[in-house]
Amino acid sequence: MKKELEKIRQEAIKALKNAKDSDTLEKLENEFLGRKAELAKIAKDIKNIAKEQRPVVGKLINDVKRDISEIIQEKKSGIKPTKQAIGFDQTLPGINPNIGHLHPITQFLEKIEDIFIKMGYEVVEGPEIESQKYNFDLLNFPKDHPSRDIQDTFYVDKDDAQNRPYLLRTHTSNVQIHAMKTRKPPVRVLAPGRVFRNERTDAGHESTFYQCEGFVIDKNIHITDLIGTLELFIKRLYGDNANIRVRPHFFPFTEPSIEVDMSCLLCEGKGCSFCKKSGWVEALGSGMIHPNVLKNMKINPKEYSGFAFGLGIDRLMMLYYMVNDIRLSYSGDLRFIEQF
Ligand code: PHE
Repeated sequence: MKKELEKIRQEAIKALKNAKDSDTLEKLENEFLGRKAELAKIAKDIKNIAKEQRPVVGKLINDVKRDISEIIQEKKSGIKPTKQAIGFDQTLPGINPNIGHLHPITQFLEKIEDIFIKMGYEVVEGPEIESQKYNFDLLNFPKDHPSRDIQDTFYVDKDDAQNRPYLLRTHTSNVQIHAMKTRKPPVRVLAPGRVFRNERTDAGHESTFYQCEGFVIDKNIHITDLIGTLELFIKRLYGDNANIRVRPHFFPFTEPSIEVDMSCLLCEGKGCSFCKKSGWVEALGSGMIHPNVLKNMKINPKEYSGFAFGLGIDRLMMLYYMVNDIRLSYSGDLRFIEQF
């Protein structure tokens, strides 16, 4: 056995000495170390020899294997390349592949989520195809409210259980109701998502756009909590120079309702075309959750109160990145997207 192994070793050394290219080397490697090699056969037959001999023979086999494989490795590092490999310069720098990244809107939404998560909010999602019940009724919209009108709302060609067509949600406020089906106050919820309105598109309007709903329900929540939260949010996002102002407004699902503007960062409040020379930009709608809506959430308005807000993501993003046309974000134009 010992002799046989020594013979294999010598044969291998001789053959490898003459190997001049990588093809031959590969063939020899297979011949001496492959599964069908003589060495492999001997290793397999080891079970037929006396028990006390096995460790000795085993060691011998391994020694031979190691020697052959060392010579092969040595040869490999100094070998001349085969024909196919000639002409390939391994030292040339490679071509950098184009690496993709998250869409600017997604990146921006993540910044917003981070700010609110640090304030204790949880992020939830809601459906984009919605029933009239959740988009309007449970949010205290009167039956004849103009925003139910076909001009504002995209209706879907399918009816719900009450024989009314489904629609593409016109705002993220539908998530207020959905989220409260499985939660009890105190809650802090953030719900970013796509919304749809049948509007003519221009530099400031798109028929599909993003909103981010937020709401808090607890005992003793006041409108000052709402204003303080929004001011902190705007300053965390844009820096301490950004300011807000509030104006009274109307939404069926909040009472009182306020609209919040932020100082125009493009002209630093001096007045430009983006802010229509006013120095302020409309940023979001908000208010104290209407008692009827709290009741629809099965919450007692005498015990709990809450605030809600809906951020206009596109407007905020245009100010953040100093982009002046909303349509760019949805165009899929790589010249735009690659800048982020
Ligand atoms: N849903 C309102 C809109 O789309 C925004 C809003 C959300 C207002 C929450 C008040 C409270 O304009």
